[in-house]
Amino acid sequence: MQPIGTLRLGVNIDHVATVRNARGTAYPDPLRAAEIAEAAGADGITAHLREDRRHISDADIEGLMASLKLPLNLEMAATAEMQAIALRHRPHAVCIVPEKRQEVTTEGGLDVARQENRLGDFIAPLREAGMRVSLFIGHEPEQIRAAARIGASVVELHTGAYCDFHYEGAHDKRDAELARLAEGAALAHALGLEVHAGHGLTYETVAPVAAFPEVMELNIGHFLIGEAIFLGLDAAIREMRRLMDAARAAG
Ligand code: PXP
Repeated sequence: MQPIGTLRLGVNIDHVATVRNARGTAYPDPLRAAEIAEAAGADGITAHLREDRRHISDADIEGLMASLKLPLNLEMAATAEMQAIALRHRPHAVCIVPEKRQEVTTEGGLDVARQENRLGDFIAPLREAGMRVSLFIGHEPEQIRAAARIGASVVELHTGAYCDFHYEGAHDKRDAELARLAEGAALAHALGLEVHAGHGLTYETVAPVAAFPEVMELNIGHFLIGEAIFLGLDAAIREMRRLMDAARAAG
């Protein structure tokens, strides 16, 4: 079983690339954002190379692999193309996510239970090449158990619904979702999986998730890049770090 320990922050830099790509310019540079994130106390950088390359590009991944000092967590779909890219670059970690072309963002978790054999075969060479393999899933026990069975090291629990309920003012639903996330984190930990969480987290929603003792890493992007417009990226990340650490310390 993984020891319960400190909470890491992975900063997702996808939306720096979204702003760049909106104009087709060379700036703002996601790599520069990664350097600022490192100085601000991030423990890792996350980047999602989507099939349609709507934000992060192949050249971004090459640049990050060449000069990033922090560990890179490459988010990707379970496709042959992405598997080959991961095997070529060998980032510290890969996080397998479901991907639909039309979606605005990753809408739900992977259905590991229904594709156990396929995903098991997909992650085997990544694990053998030394990458930490994470599966982005919901909190359903059958998904967590399936992730453990196929040999994932990590599950990242999808916090999107919890955050949506918070901002919709549906506080009963939010609290029920949070309770299911807590149960999922405890089950995953008991099964020997390292537990991460992410999607949609903000200053208002991060604390209860950061307080789950089993969660070892939060991956946060969109809100931080938005907040950077007002505070600057360094200050936006430092504030998130402060809120996470305070919530973890308070239990
Ligand atoms: N974790 C995973 C697996 C994701 O796909 C994303 C979004 O790319 C995030 C975390 C970060 O979500 P957000 O950008 O909403 O903070």
